[in-house]
Amino acid sequence: MSEKSISECVVFHDEIVTMEVDFTDLTLSDSSTVDAFYDEIDRRLAASGRRWYFLVNYKGCVITPEAWPRFAERGKNTNIIHGLGTVRVGASSSTRDAIRSHSERAMFRSNIYDSRDQAMLALGELRKRHREAEGAAEGSFLRVENVGLHFGGVKAISGVSFEIRRGEISSIIGPNGAGKSSMLNVINGVYHPQEGTVTFLGKQRRRMHPHEAAAQGIARTFQNIALFKGMSVLDNLMTGRNLKMKCNFLQQALYWGPAQREELEHRAKIEEVIDYLEIEHIRKTPVGRLPYGLQKRVELGRALAAEPTLLLLDEPMAGMNVEEKQDMSRFILDVNDQFGTTILLIEHDMGVVMDISDFVVVLDHGQKIAEGTPDEVRSDPVVIRAYLGTAH
Ligand SMILES: Nc1ncnc2c1ncn2[C@@H]1O[C@H](COP(=O)(O)OP(=O)(O)O)[C@@H](O)[C@H]1O
Ligand SMILES: [Mg+2]
Repeated sequence: MSEKSISECVVFHDEIVTMEVDFTDLTLSDSSTVDAFYDEIDRRLAASGRRWYFLVNYKGCVITPEAWPRFAERGKNTNIIHGLGTVRVGASSSTRDAIRSHSERAMFRSNIYDSRDQAMLALGELRKRHREAEGAAEGSFLRVENVGLHFGGVKAISGVSFEIRRGEISSIIGPNGAGKSSMLNVINGVYHPQEGTVTFLGKQRRRMHPHEAAAQGIARTFQNIALFKGMSVLDNLMTGRNLKMKCNFLQQALYWGPAQREELEHRAKIEEVIDYLEIEHIRKTPVGRLPYGLQKRVELGRALAAEPTLLLLDEPMAGMNVEEKQDMSRFILDVNDQFGTTILLIEHDMGVVMDISDFVVVLDHGQKIAEGTPDEVRSDPVVIRAYLGTAH
């Protein structure tokens, strides 16, 4: 395939922030053809200097089984780095099956539509959600002001301030012991700082209890997975709904009707999460028997079951291999895209952080040493010296 024919397959629609990729009647039969294609796409996306929605047309396109792994891998990378969301149209039934099976493994949404009109409508919905999230960003979402926290003589956090905007993905990075986990614990009310305040959705506080934070829409996952290992996936997910349960035990005994209706609502929400995370096949399995990566997914599911406004993730990719990390990245981006959930995560892998974050806060020895966009932070000499220069 010539360079020209590849570039002709890509059209940028500026006004709807969409890159349309036309695979019509194309046969992708080996890795080098796939690479030629994605090299061109990635080059043009990088040159644009921004993220795009993708509309991909598969009409008459054949991707051979040999080419699929490479195609899926390159597509996923492009999505992570440059994508705001993807819709697909015109796929044959075998291509649909392949997309679905890859999306299941890679945790992205398959978003396959029958017609271009339907796909355009779906894109419109995605854009609308983003716009709403942006509109709501006016007025402060989460503001941490001058927070100081110590344990006896150990100063875990000293005078740290930053602001998180609604609808964004923000990251806290920094070496071990920098105070990252402590900061999440302050935000969700587990630790009570001796100094400073946290303002969430207009409510300012010095101290709050974890159940109050949860009631305000803050959910989190932990650095060390905190699930009930002997309980099934389903029961663990149900614990994510606890806070939403209005009927207490006595009410359940006295007023059977309302309690039953409520139970049904919770079940429906849990089913949605199971479906979203594609963990149907393990719903009855005790969590302790699952491999590590799946346990991490279930823990995320439990946090999502609470329908959070702010999702705190403490090293969601620790201990994962490169592929699992990419999957988790994709998934975090999807939650952010599809539900507009604001996400604050701690992550050691700089590549991942830089790829998925809108905003980065850098802590070192309990102090904030930098903040900004990934590019700003990456090129900050103080950060390079304190963090990037050291091995992690
Ligand atoms: N519950 C606690 N009791 C005593 N010291 C703590 C506690 N939690 C955190 N620390 C201390 O606070 C500092 C920051 O820890 P942490 O927030 O876990 O850092 P990070 O998550 O960046 O690795 C460390 O010196 C740690 O030992
Ligand atoms: Mg930590």
